[in-house]
Amino acid sequence: MNILITGGAGYIGSHTSITLAKAGHKITIVDNLCNSNIEVIGQITKIIGSKVNFINGDVRNTSLMTKILKEHRIEGVIHFAGLKSITESVANPLLYYSNNVLGSISLIEAMQLNQIKTFVFSSSAAVYGGPAYLPYDEKHPTNPINPYGNSKLQVETILKDWAISDHTVKVSILRYFNPVGAHESGLIGEYPTQFPNNLMPYITKVISGSLTHLNIYGNDYETRDGTGERDYIHVMDLAEGHLAALSHLKNNFGVHIYNLGTGQSTTVLELIKEFEKVNRIEIPYKFSSRREGDLPSYYSDTSKAFKDLGWKTKYDLEQSCQDTYRHVKYIVQLSD
Ligand code: UD1
Repeated sequence: MNILITGGAGYIGSHTSITLAKAGHKITIVDNLCNSNIEVIGQITKIIGSKVNFINGDVRNTSLMTKILKEHRIEGVIHFAGLKSITESVANPLLYYSNNVLGSISLIEAMQLNQIKTFVFSSSAAVYGGPAYLPYDEKHPTNPINPYGNSKLQVETILKDWAISDHTVKVSILRYFNPVGAHESGLIGEYPTQFPNNLMPYITKVISGSLTHLNIYGNDYETRDGTGERDYIHVMDLAEGHLAALSHLKNNFGVHIYNLGTGQSTTVLELIKEFEKVNRIEIPYKFSSRREGDLPSYYSDTSKAFKDLGWKTKYDLEQSCQDTYRHVKYIVQLSD
């Protein structure tokens, strides 16, 4: 299929672009590069061994999106383009509603004008809010606790209403848990240009020497060792999840919601120890106070994705730590 990937230069979008191209799809990427680097497009080309169409543009530009969809004869869209810092979303909510919600509306409008009805949406476990029970399954109530989570849930609602208005629409909503790892080549991965918010990017900044140590936000939670528990999924497993969701839409109308996680929980300390062991390096850390808005523990039930999509994770935490480190070494060597 001819697939448009919005945000395809970003962390999850770039890995998914590779997986889709390798599966035989023709990829067009649109990205405004607000949180990514143009060089990623070159790396994708190198990895897949053929050129990808790339357009530097913003999904909120409906006329541009309409034109791209038409010119590239797009048949399906995977929508990653959006902002993802929870802290930033609390400080600047309008920025999040504009990028994430208005961006999605603009894209769907352009799709409607072109009669394109296949859509895979990059959502988040953040739509659940605090756990009423664990693991989260897709029936868990949605009650986001920050503008980022709200913006994702609002788009989910819009997609459901779109599918009610048109019964030939095919939508897959993928709720990600905590993506980590990198492509095995080391050429792409997550190495933010801005100050890192998430755990693994923070670790990469510490081991590359940009930051002196990691702050562990709280060691007094009611978890195995007092530190926060999360469900860390390798980004290439996540990419495979998108391919599986897209294939599933071939024969299925309506809206389908899936958790993409591993179903396993890992504490911050466990992740640090694994990273140190696998890569034989030390990660200096200090305990600090809890981060506001953090949950003690959350992880996924992924049985629905396995049942409907036949998808399950292949990589473990060891592989995630190895691949992350390979990418960091690649970046550091480039800047030397
Ligand atoms: C949050 C969202 C998740 C979203 C992700 C992307 C919720 C409930 N979760 O994940 O849906 O996809 O952001 O931005 O809204 N930690 C440290 N030190 C650090 C950084 C993190 O100790 O420097 C700890 C945190 O306290 C937490 C764990 O590491 O226990 C993971 O944190 P993080 O990587 O920021 O992800 P979440 O907050 O789980």
